Amino acid sequence: NMTRTHRIAVIPGDGIGIETVAATLRVLEKLSALENFSLDLTHFDYGSARYKSTGSYTPETFPDELRPYDSILFGAVGDPDVPDHISLWKLLLPMRQIFQQYVNCRPVCLLPGVKACVNTAATPSDLDWVIVRENSEGEYSGQGGRSHIGTVGETATEVGIFTRFGCERLIRWAFELASGRPRKLLTLVTKSNAQRSGLVLWDECANRVAKDYPDVKWDKMLVDAMTVRMVRNPASLDVIVCTNLHGDILSDLAAALAGSIGIAPSANLVPDHSAPALFEPVHGSAFDIMGKGIANPIGTIWSAAMMLDYLGEKAAAARLERAFKKALADGATTADLGGELDTEGAAQAVIDRL
Ligand code: NAI
Ligand code: MG
Repeated sequence: NMTRTHRIAVIPGDGIGIETVAATLRVLEKLSALENFSLDLTHFDYGSARYKSTGSYTPETFPDELRPYDSILFGAVGDPDVPDHISLWKLLLPMRQIFQQYVNCRPVCLLPGVKACVNTAATPSDLDWVIVRENSEGEYSGQGGRSHIGTVGETATEVGIFTRFGCERLIRWAFELASGRPRKLLTLVTKSNAQRSGLVLWDECANRVAKDYPDVKWDKMLVDAMTVRMVRNPASLDVIVCTNLHGDILSDLAAALAGSIGIAPSANLVPDHSAPALFEPVHGSAFDIMGKGIANPIGTIWSAAMMLDYLGEKAAAARLERAFKKALADGATTADLGGELDTEGAAQAVIDRL
């Protein structure tokens, strides 16, 4: 009767990330007892409080500290007193690059009991997507710079980096996913009319990869028109593959269409498992509600379910998904979805349904 053990680095980070991760850990504790696996958790204090007291978000050796772990469970980063480009670039974006977490996978479903945004006619069967976002290069490669700072001639460049290697591996992962789903549809989001270098390469990579997946029916959409299609015709979409910037924006739209950003999950995957993958809700630290104990924990709980699936705990992942879907269907949820529970109450509602 061997118990499987997984080593997890826990980084709650900032704001409501601290609250939703704590709630999620309570759910995982119960689940692991029921499903006979164990999580060896190590907490890391990386985040804005550490930055404000020591001057750095992480120790310099953080890649070596995190590398031995099977996965990272992450809350959010962002603090009212720290410019957002500093908090994001000192913690989250370096992990995605250093560990080559090049697939950002964001399932979006309209779940029973959750009311869709008023602007869409979608019912649960109409909205069942996976957004696959490039997560290591593109518009968020970090290249660029500033000169003549503080003068009227101040200049800045923000350079998008698109490599054949980076585009192809991501697009291939998305086609592989699409070919394993019942509908086998894929939509490539692009902007190759206006961005005539990087995004033309992006399109060409898709043309090449698609040849290996004759069973997948795919099309291309310009990102601006894609926003309209997501709202007007959600049932026509299945797997959606996007660049880093486009995927960032479209997944917030998708989260709103599917009810609330508070339930949207994400996985930053390392497909060859050569480094830890990172699982986190799509939302940020939510300055407006942090510290109040009212954040919806489902985005983090769903991300933890994706983590268990990635770790091979398929039965536990499925059990957790059933439990939080039942809680939502029963209306046992937080105010962002019209419920009356606080963060702890919403987590308890999931525990009660495990
Ligand atoms: P946000 O996602 O933190 O909040 C947007 C809105 O959604 C707010 O009104 C918030 O109250 C609401 N919301 C978010 N999560 C919720 C939850 N679980 N339950 C109920 N309501 C929820 O985005 P915002 O306000 O643009 O950014 C705040 C900070 O978070 C910034 O510093 C930003 O840079 C950072 N951020 C960090 C991310 C990350 O760590 N991956 C992602 C997005 C933003
Ligand atoms: Mg975002």
